[in-house]
Amino acid sequence: MHYAFPHDFWWGSASSAPQTEGNSLGGGKSATIWDHWFALQPERFFQQVGPRDTSTFYQHWREDIALLKQTGHNSFRTSLSWARLLPVGRGKINQQAVAFYNQVIDELLAQGITPFINLFHFDMPQVLQDLGGWENRLVVEAYTEYAALCFGLFGDRVKYWFTFNEPIVPVEGGYLYDFHYPNVVDFERAATVAYHTMLAHAGAVRRYREMGRDGEIGIILNLTPSYPRSQHPADLQAAKNADLLFNRSFLDPALRGRYPQALVDLLEQYGQRPESRPGDSEVLAAGVVDLLGINYYQPRRVQCRSNQVNPDSPFMPEWFFEAYQMPGRKMNPWRGWEIYERGIYDILTDLRVNYNNPRCYISENGMGVEDELRFLHDGRIEDDYRIDFVREHLIWVHRALQEGSRCLGYHIWTFIDNWSWSNAYKNRYGLVQLDLATQRRTVKKSGSWFAEVARRHGFHKEVNDGQ
Ligand code: BG6
Repeated sequence: MHYAFPHDFWWGSASSAPQTEGNSLGGGKSATIWDHWFALQPERFFQQVGPRDTSTFYQHWREDIALLKQTGHNSFRTSLSWARLLPVGRGKINQQAVAFYNQVIDELLAQGITPFINLFHFDMPQVLQDLGGWENRLVVEAYTEYAALCFGLFGDRVKYWFTFNEPIVPVEGGYLYDFHYPNVVDFERAATVAYHTMLAHAGAVRRYREMGRDGEIGIILNLTPSYPRSQHPADLQAAKNADLLFNRSFLDPALRGRYPQALVDLLEQYGQRPESRPGDSEVLAAGVVDLLGINYYQPRRVQCRSNQVNPDSPFMPEWFFEAYQMPGRKMNPWRGWEIYERGIYDILTDLRVNYNNPRCYISENGMGVEDELRFLHDGRIEDDYRIDFVREHLIWVHRALQEGSRCLGYHIWTFIDNWSWSNAYKNRYGLVQLDLATQRRTVKKSGSWFAEVARRHGFHKEVNDGQ
């Protein structure tokens, strides 16, 4: 069968400044929380590889953009670094950064690759974290200024803007589960960070529209469908709660301009509702996006709790559900994540049916593999597993499109194997292999396959080719 996609479908990949640029303390850039945390606790990072050791996009941007072209990209998402553009968080602009990003944007356009620009990918400048980061409303204000600066500097050429990538991740990592700096475990603070992030988002959207720039603005959310263990009402409720806390907490403000009442009630009931101020709801209402980016890697399977919550234990989302490991689930054994391709269709269908079918695209989807050199044959990574992974997800995207979803493109995570926070280079995701020691780039089998899919606007799959 031939799976044909629209001729203007976006084919590309996603990446971010802190994971690729390198030169993380050079070129006038100041430290982010990543530089800071690595200096404090290098042992928390896989093989002690830190944010300075990335894929050197700062030096090799031209060569990398040529590789984007070679691997079939018509669009590419990366982020700008706040700490590079505004080393003290607000005020004085670093002109070296402006020159760097201008070159990158101009070269992308010269190669026929549409830049999708994200403003924040987990990389809070340390000077602002020192003021309390997202817990402090001053930082929300500073972010809005930073966003407006970017729209002014680059908005003549950049037509697709995103305020945040996966804004829930710094909440989970930094304030609930200890995998990002500042390693706090405190739900109330986490809820404040989440709330302020969405105020920052909405403030930036409002500024973008006030500036009258010709383009679209959105947000990128990791939407993880929650599947109940069974149809038992208690399991169904557990899945609903997980969905509320992890998806709708960001999806509803982004698409409806307000929080779900059920979430407000739940936080109220447990005394965890963050402090709001007069005028906040108007700001939030202005944050409805033009375009939604969807990151999808794996489903969340849940069941009701098997024991009673100890009311003296710290309040956590897990008060409302338990993780469920479904027997027989398909796994990516090299990352330990479940593979459930249909999840991508379920997200698109939920958006179509329950959220008025927003303009959206798949902004991240991909397969991480530990120790990927085991698949190196004759100088090339033979990543057939990644080709299968992407193709099977695309088949479900195709089905959603046929049913009327307004999904406009597919971006794989990621282009070149890149540095991934405290996992550093553990899990490789690229269409292009990176040799960390030599910085040599080699296109993987999936990179050539992806180029062909983009060129042909789709692919052919025999119904029983066994793949
Ligand atoms: C995504 C993030 O959710 O997961 C990326 O947006 C990250 O920044 C990617 O690199 C892969 O994560 P990991 O932990 O498998 O390397």
